[in-house]
Amino acid sequence: MNERPAPDADPVHAAWLPPSVFRALGSRRVRVDGEGPLADTVRAEVAAACARFGGVAQPTSAPDLLLTVAAGAAGSEGFLLGRRDGATVVLADGPAGLLPGLFEVVRRGEAAFDPALADERHQPAFRLRVLDHWDNVFVHPVMGQVERGYAGGSIFWQGGRLRADLSRVRDYARLLAASGINAITVNNVNVGEGETHLLTDRLGDVAAIASAVRPYGIRVHVSVNFAAPVILGDLPTADPLDPAVRRWWASTTDRVFATIPDFGGYLVKADSEGQPGPFTYGRTHADGANMLAAALAPHGAPVRWRAFVYNHRQDWRDRTTDRARAAHDHFAALDGRFADNVILQVKHGPIDFQTREPVSPVLLAMPHTHLAVELQVTQEYTGQQRHICYLPPMWSGVLGFRPTGDTSPTLATRLTAGPSGADSGSVSGRTPAGVLSAVANVGDDRFWTGHPLAQANLYAVGRLGWAPGRDPAAILDEWISLTFPEAPPRLRHTLHTLMDDSWLTYEQYTAPLGVGFMVRPGHHYGPDVDGYEYTPWGTYHFADRDGIGVDRTVATGTGFTGQYPPPWSERYESLSTCPDELLLFFHHVPYTHLLHSGTTVIQHIYDTHFAGAQRVAEMRPEWDSVAGLVDPATHARVAERLAEQHRSAEEWRDQINTYFHRKSGVPDDKGRRIH
Ligand code: GCU
Repeated sequence: MNERPAPDADPVHAAWLPPSVFRALGSRRVRVDGEGPLADTVRAEVAAACARFGGVAQPTSAPDLLLTVAAGAAGSEGFLLGRRDGATVVLADGPAGLLPGLFEVVRRGEAAFDPALADERHQPAFRLRVLDHWDNVFVHPVMGQVERGYAGGSIFWQGGRLRADLSRVRDYARLLAASGINAITVNNVNVGEGETHLLTDRLGDVAAIASAVRPYGIRVHVSVNFAAPVILGDLPTADPLDPAVRRWWASTTDRVFATIPDFGGYLVKADSEGQPGPFTYGRTHADGANMLAAALAPHGAPVRWRAFVYNHRQDWRDRTTDRARAAHDHFAALDGRFADNVILQVKHGPIDFQTREPVSPVLLAMPHTHLAVELQVTQEYTGQQRHICYLPPMWSGVLGFRPTGDTSPTLATRLTAGPSGADSGSVSGRTPAGVLSAVANVGDDRFWTGHPLAQANLYAVGRLGWAPGRDPAAILDEWISLTFPEAPPRLRHTLHTLMDDSWLTYEQYTAPLGVGFMVRPGHHYGPDVDGYEYTPWGTYHFADRDGIGVDRTVATGTGFTGQYPPPWSERYESLSTCPDELLLFFHHVPYTHLLHSGTTVIQHIYDTHFAGAQRVAEMRPEWDSVAGLVDPATHARVAERLAEQHRSAEEWRDQINTYFHRKSGVPDDKGRRIH
């Protein structure tokens, strides 16, 4: 279902590293000092650029650009960019800082050689910036090779085997390094029986991927199956407190590190949507996570343990169970009980990557726990890479959220500081404080991401990982400059017009006011208002003839608002202060309820759905008008996707408007046609 035909003979798209972005650097005299494989990679990049553009690599004197290690911290990726003795310099804190320094120079082009360039210090805010691939080694009968993948097959796996040719994986690592990512997880969080073997007899495959990405400073993580000792047939139990189980994980992990000394760590989805976990043995998630942490601790590596734990077999008649509450209910009380190298990985919203959700209250709790925020780059609920949906404005809202009110430090600041009381946020040497994780959107499609413009989402994650406060429009601008290096102002303008607000446009024509879902069950594409309404998944909107929304208040609802600290608990609890865009996430209201915007809920539904679909209709001629300014294959692919987005947006508009018109009986006050 989500497989596309094998890539055709056309070359793989260069994404944000077409050769010409190296022109400024490659036409100069560039010296790279430093030892080791990362310095070698930088030297090779420079040599290739100079060969192409006529510069001199490794001149013995008077370089225009010098990249060198100036301090001693091997693991640090920071660097200083500035001018010394008439040359531009990248003074890296350690070898790991040379590559990010090189790509900073690449991004700037000629501006990097401005004699007036003032010293700038660059350091990643999040120390681990990881893309989690939901790639299956063995093709899943429903999910295919990549779960929630919209860009073809896996770049790692094909029909049960590691791909023989990993050159594309190496190219991918290069792109990721240039965007700021420093780790990947090579298999799906839903770990099938076959994938469980990656830890043991298929470890060689993981090692091969690690070798392909290592030159670009990317480390490899693996999703593990909590029941691995049982599945692999070695033990009768996976009880985390059983000494034999603990020994199994310790020795298995030792073998992993003997094979891959710079292995990144484990990722675990436990007791979630059918995956095994500690609950089977009457143990807590702290017991489960700490067992894996103990196996990893001697190697200084972390386990990322997902907080996505909820009852997916809920009775829809039962109004007391609230899926939004689940993660906080399960985990908040465990604060302080996780080992230092456990990172609790939390989806950014309390439900599941919907177009609009509040920030998960788990991210605002648990001061004594390492927390990672998980974003979804793959557009499962945001148009599946058929719709243009530039997601950084959403992510910036999460990272810039103020946990305890408008003047408090941002969530990103809190996450990157690590747990209170931890030693400078670093545990066991390599456990990073500050983890930004994101579900990847890449496949073997020649454009990497199916929709060429979805590359911008992939690019932006790494950039936000370095500087979470950056303006999404500025990141987009940077991406345009790299991806369309000759872009005339008209193309740049059109791309901004199409992309800057595309998330808000998508929100306009899909589920209204934060209520979420309303997608077709299973594959999650297109509208189906009641598709999930009477299912066990806990994703309800409760629309009837009088009103819509989920009452999650303390006063009369599920009490979810009480999981927030003040002032958010009060703001969300009260109808008079709850933000319009989240109204139906927190409250059940009559259709005639007046929003802060001055319009009623029902009229808002009609207006936004007409406006959103209308906006998509306008996008098509806008894109057509730049046909001569973009290479034909890219232009054609975007045009084809825009046609589908247009069809789909009108389908959404008509189903949502008709549904609520029939339910409420309230006419559109503008008298437009509702079917
Ligand atoms: C969603 C998604 C699943 C995925 C799950 C997760 O429910 O639809 O495909 O496995 O999230 O994040 O674990």
